[in-house]
Amino acid sequence: MSAPTLEAIKYRRGHLEVLDQLLLPFETVYEVVRGVDDGHMVIRTMKVRGAPAIAIVAALSLAVELHVEITHRASPALATPAAVAAFVEAKLEHLKTSRPTAVNLFEAAGRLLRLVRTAATQPSATADAAGAAAVAAAYIGAAEAMLAQDIQDNKNIGRFGAEFILEHAARKGNGRVRVLTHCNTGSLATAGWGTALGIIRDLHARGGLDHAFCTETRPYNQGSRLTAYELVYEKIPSTLVCDDMVSALLKQKDIAAIVVGADRVAANGDTANKIGTYQLAITAKYHGVLFIVAAPSTSIDLETPNGDAIVIEERSPLEVTHIRGRTLDDEANVKEHDSPARVTTTSIEIAARGINVWNPAFDVAPQSLISAIVTEKGVITKAPGQDSFPIKEFLASH
Ligand code: MRU
Repeated sequence: MSAPTLEAIKYRRGHLEVLDQLLLPFETVYEVVRGVDDGHMVIRTMKVRGAPAIAIVAALSLAVELHVEITHRASPALATPAAVAAFVEAKLEHLKTSRPTAVNLFEAAGRLLRLVRTAATQPSATADAAGAAAVAAAYIGAAEAMLAQDIQDNKNIGRFGAEFILEHAARKGNGRVRVLTHCNTGSLATAGWGTALGIIRDLHARGGLDHAFCTETRPYNQGSRLTAYELVYEKIPSTLVCDDMVSALLKQKDIAAIVVGADRVAANGDTANKIGTYQLAITAKYHGVLFIVAAPSTSIDLETPNGDAIVIEERSPLEVTHIRGRTLDDEANVKEHDSPARVTTTSIEIAARGINVWNPAFDVAPQSLISAIVTEKGVITKAPGQDSFPIKEFLASH
């Protein structure tokens, strides 16, 4: 166990570790990812989660495997550029089966495969081990570049989003704002900084944040376990609410905006995000509160015309019938023995046995309920009279 941290992904060439988010906020334990099978497992079991982090960990798990196979094992199965390209394709196909809803993994897999195919068919690519190593190096370099690019994109999302919210608030005569966020979209869900939580960080850094609220986000509790952890860690003034308190919060607490992330934004702006996002968008509309989606442009899926076409992942009933946490007995142990090593994260049964369970991990907020989509390239809004987001046009011109 190491010290509390917000670093979800630790990488150096040939070595990848992810912070086990199932154990947060009570234990800080890193898990080594030795290759694609480990990468698939940590994503599937949600030890690492959040759309950008899923894509990055998947890409890097293959980078680690390729590095080991080429550099240390000189694997005969990877002796030519074509063999490396076929290997990368098969491994990416497997990684794509880990979680279906977030598009970032699919976008990254498509982009990396195109890059590898191009490298393998260059006239300069010799059909030998040296040519194979060059193709592997091209893949590894591109996967590694995703880490720095994601942080840069998040910083831009934070800046654009904060400016947008503060401009709106200024029109109402407010200089500092209260915002609500859902799920976890911060450093833990990305390479660092975060998307919707990046906007909150930016607002705080520029003195524009009065207070942040975060939902608990049942059933997996990304809000109470992860976002609350990040907010406390960063000393951002913040309050946790249960998911069913949001309408009361909007009615009573003068919230300027709800900011959420996205797992997939369809071509018309319909947005799949953590379950509960849809009801937040409805109550935001009812209360006249800005509802903002914050996501890198890699979360936009122009191939998917609208939200009805998005595959929604359904997860284990155990996430609903049980809750992860630390028991009071464990806490007493920690106090008594002053030994963090005694902390154990456990799963506690909270539902009547025999009850049926429905556990969709995501839902879709229709674009009609969304005020703006904030990307690293700028803010997409609807002009008066427009009834859907001009996403294609925006991307073409930025
Ligand atoms: O099931 P999760 O925890 O992977 O879901 C995460 C979310 O829905 C996030 O809001 C989304 O991926 C954006 S993360 C920047």
